[in-house]
Amino acid sequence: MTELLGPGDLARAAALLRDGRLVAFPTETVYGLGGDATNAEAVAGIFAAKGRPHFNPLICHYPSAEAAFADVLADERAHRLAAQFWPGALTLVLPRAAACRVDLLAGAGLDTLAVRVPANPLARALLREVGVPVAAPSANRSGQVSPTTAAHVLDGLGGRIAAVVDGGPCTVGVESTVLDLAGNGPEGAAVLLRPGGVPAEAIEALLGPIGRALPVAAAAATASLRSPGLLLSHYAPGLPVRLDAISLAPDEALLAFGRPLPGAALAWNLSERGDLQEAAARLFAGLRWLDAEGTRRGCRGIAVMPVPETGLGAAINDRLARAAAPRG
Ligand code: TXA
Ligand code: MG
Repeated sequence: MTELLGPGDLARAAALLRDGRLVAFPTETVYGLGGDATNAEAVAGIFAAKGRPHFNPLICHYPSAEAAFADVLADERAHRLAAQFWPGALTLVLPRAAACRVDLLAGAGLDTLAVRVPANPLARALLREVGVPVAAPSANRSGQVSPTTAAHVLDGLGGRIAAVVDGGPCTVGVESTVLDLAGNGPEGAAVLLRPGGVPAEAIEALLGPIGRALPVAAAAATASLRSPGLLLSHYAPGLPVRLDAISLAPDEALLAFGRPLPGAALAWNLSERGDLQEAAARLFAGLRWLDAEGTRRGCRGIAVMPVPETGLGAAINDRLARAAAPRG
């Protein structure tokens, strides 16, 4: 049985984590599947619970930049980014410090580590109480749509983990932006590995131009090299997903943005007023709902209206492209 915990049960959640058990908890981006990052068995348990086909490096979560930077070598750019965007939806990939406490498996044996200080107050209080870095991928079975509510977590992982802390729906709704500062870009330039909750434009306003990993559409051949999590087919609902729809077949469900295409029997609007922040927060819940309802009503697929590529739109389009990618 998976315990359902509330905001008043953080001591219990922290005790479970310190005991090596797995606890899902809310962050502002998506729910994370947490385990003690210094405990090899807990880390192995995360991969097993998710059903990850291979060891894909995990993000470590901390209550403060000071705590995070104890485990990695933070340069001046990292300090500036942390000052501006932490706590928040930005993950920094940095070289592991010699004294790094995080188990090697959590970083998939790489000499770098991804670190983040989430903004959700429950997450921060929990991390403070646990006192060790917490490794946490999104709390879904591998390849499925990320969870933005405790109910989503239980759908995929109920019975496989010790507990989930219910903190209500996530406010950002797409995962953190992953930025590589470990010197893998040309002349050590920062490289955007995954668009996410902090828009690339905001990072470039601080650092100047940053490199981009290949866009999803072009990434199929090389996706597994730099960041093994960036596999192409991901966030996949059961129904096929068709992008950039400008018209609708009678048996298609509609994921709308702005004024909806006419004639949909089943529709979820990301944001009627065309607001990207609202759309990000409603994306994963919408995919899940259309998938379940559409399947129940015999729909053939999900048609998705175009979403602009600016700001949070880049993260939304990245997730939609993966949801629509050929299934491996
Ligand atoms: O918003 C988020 O980031 C959520 C919440 C729970 O914090 N977590 C999340 O974790 O999305 P996950 O495991 O689903 O995605 C982690 C991403 C993967 O694409 C992985 O390949 C990349 O970060 N990553 C982790 N460590 C890395 C490293 N050392 N080098 C390059 N990429 C890394
Ligand atoms: Mg994930």
